[in-house]
Amino acid sequence: PKLTKVPQGSLTRTALNGSTLMSEHRAEKMQRSKDVEQERRKKKLVDDPSYRAEADFRNKQLTLTAWERSRNRENIEYGKRTNMPIKAQRESLPVFRMRQQLVDAVKENQFVVIVGETGSGKTTQITQYLDEERFSDNGIIGCTQPRRVAAVSVAKRVSEEMGCRLGEDVGYTIRFEDETSPQTRIKYMTDGMLQREALLDPAMRKYSVILLDEAHERTIATDVLFALLKEAAVKRPDLRVIVTSATLDAEKFSAYFLDCPVIKIPGRTFPVDVLYSQTPQLDYIESTLDTVMEIHINEGRGDILVFLTGQEEIDTCCEVLFERVKTLGDTIQELLILPVYSALPSEVQSKIFEPTPPNCRKVIFATNIAETSITIDGIYYVVDPGFAKINTYNPRMGMEQLVVSPISQAQANQRKGRAGRTGAGKCYRLYTESAFLNEMMPNTIPEIQRQNLSYTILMLKAMGINDLLNFEFMDPPPRVSMIGALEDLYNLQALYDDGKLSKLGGLMSQFPMEPALSKALIESTSRGCSDEVSTIISMLSVQNVFYRPRDKQQEADNKKVRFHHPYGDHLTLLNVYNRWRDDNYSKTFCLNNYLHERHLKRARDVKLQLLNVFKKLQLPVSNSNGDIDMIRSTLVSGFFRNAAKRDSQTGYKTITDGTSVSVHPSSALFGKDYDCVIYHNLVLTTREYMSHVTAIDARWLVESAPHFYKVAGAESESRKRAKIVPLHNKFSQNQDSWRLSSLRQTKEKA
Ligand code: CDP
Ligand code: MG
Repeated sequence: PKLTKVPQGSLTRTALNGSTLMSEHRAEKMQRSKDVEQERRKKKLVDDPSYRAEADFRNKQLTLTAWERSRNRENIEYGKRTNMPIKAQRESLPVFRMRQQLVDAVKENQFVVIVGETGSGKTTQITQYLDEERFSDNGIIGCTQPRRVAAVSVAKRVSEEMGCRLGEDVGYTIRFEDETSPQTRIKYMTDGMLQREALLDPAMRKYSVILLDEAHERTIATDVLFALLKEAAVKRPDLRVIVTSATLDAEKFSAYFLDCPVIKIPGRTFPVDVLYSQTPQLDYIESTLDTVMEIHINEGRGDILVFLTGQEEIDTCCEVLFERVKTLGDTIQELLILPVYSALPSEVQSKIFEPTPPNCRKVIFATNIAETSITIDGIYYVVDPGFAKINTYNPRMGMEQLVVSPISQAQANQRKGRAGRTGAGKCYRLYTESAFLNEMMPNTIPEIQRQNLSYTILMLKAMGINDLLNFEFMDPPPRVSMIGALEDLYNLQALYDDGKLSKLGGLMSQFPMEPALSKALIESTSRGCSDEVSTIISMLSVQNVFYRPRDKQQEADNKKVRFHHPYGDHLTLLNVYNRWRDDNYSKTFCLNNYLHERHLKRARDVKLQLLNVFKKLQLPVSNSNGDIDMIRSTLVSGFFRNAAKRDSQTGYKTITDGTSVSVHPSSALFGKDYDCVIYHNLVLTTREYMSHVTAIDARWLVESAPHFYKVAGAESESRKRAKIVPLHNKFSQNQDSWRLSSLRQTKEKA
């Protein structure tokens, strides 16, 4: 890519332009390896789309081998930071100089906002200072994180710093995983978990201090916690709430929290040179790889951090780059290639924190998790293609989708900042300066304004918060999305006609999962198949269990087919789990059948937790004894909204809005003819694919959701020909009806 420097900088630099800056010999070699890979990449892209989203384990092994190789070299000289004793390390962080001021502010004020660059020590240190000052005598010091990975890695780090075992004095809680004990004084958790705790204890009596960390991320859970904690603080004058942010929106937070004090931690940052692309980049992956190679070959020492949008992209890049570097052999310095994303096993993740061995450069391909949640030392170069995957709600389809979108200016600056922590750095923006100035939004839109709120509203209702209009959101969600969520919940029978939480809704709110799933779970207990349905839902809650190594695809596929159930994927997942269970949850079973043992084990944990919730709610666990129809119709009770009818030769159409959809090639129902199906979600690649599809009897739709579907032309004699159609959007006529009264009227008229 053609890159130029920002005009306002002090240095001038030639536009980086491919081979001009490197020796001809190298350039030629690079070109050759590039051609090879372009072919490969093309091949990869025309590959069956079904498996594009899957992790390729081989990549990770390759990168790990590379890492291990250099680590085991004899003259390893570990980086400075790791050599320092822990005390000195802690005292070298910028937050340390502010210790007293921070502690005093927290003593004197109920709310404190803290702003500081990423890496200044906010997350790992402030909790410890408060613990040292004995705040934990009156309750746990809690610290929330928007991301699971960050919660776990930070808890680990702090337990090391405090010299205790993880789960004892310092612990963490994330969904389906609780590493705490009665002696835990500092607890890291996802914001979603604390939000759930508010359900049981709105006054947060377990806690003395709650630190809402990474508040600039503005996740829904953090936004909801803002309001809940503001209220809890009124009831509990002793409760302390700290809000931290890496960006300068502090004034807004302070204003919201009754003009509380703002403490700024002076950063220790170095200038970062920004280089923009001269022309828009058509293929940002290709440009990214080129840029990384250029940096590696032409630039001085320092590690590289690259921001990509997701696991699949990261794995591809790691692999392609590895091959390129291999082709170049000894002509260039060694390059360690490391991926970072949430789904990575934690052993691999901790590698990124280890210092780079000498005579070697590290390049880290990360999702936007590395923007602020985790800090990696030694980064001098940042490559920013300008995209991130964000979860957006598509109201037309009534579902969430992960969409690759341009980042905001604030995010771009945050990314740039990663290069200036150890010394003066460089940030390569693979977009034009004009795109940055004119096309990127100044700030990221808070999640609450763009996501589905059903789960959140169900929880608020379960806390007895009915007046959503007057709930003190910092930035209230748009009315339409609140109405949409109320409508979803009403259709799932979680709300009564008057908009109050129904008994069913109350039970549903006890499960930490999307309402469609919790509805199916509750239904399964009354229908008599909760054993099977909880297994299926556990399997849906973990990552894909099918392992498909690139060189053994056919073999893996053949094994997978043996699990296929004629009625589809939900029952296929049940088969896999049950056969694994019958084989004593053995490792050999997983190896022989190309299954990810780690994901299956997690499914087992999730299932155990679901059974615990059943027990707590005194709901029966029973097995249908092979009554497949009972299981399928129970799934319909949660997923009736995601139904599609066979349309013509071309595929299916969704019943709610007639969108054309196809069965995903990885589905057990691929190429099968069924009249009516439900699906777990839609995946948009080249077209709209249904994934996790199960064949159903269309009549179940009306039985499960009589308020949502009706049989068109009820006079029609033949049942077969009866057409199922959705009842039309009751809210569209009267969007002001917050308490669902219009709904009741519509129903009465019907
Ligand atoms: O929260 P903030 O971004 O201000 O900083 P932090 O996460 O508390 O990080 C402070 C220091 O601890 C940094 O130098 C990190 O590299 C280091 N750290 C680490 O070594 N391992 C972790 N899992 C987390 C942080
Ligand atoms: Mg932090």
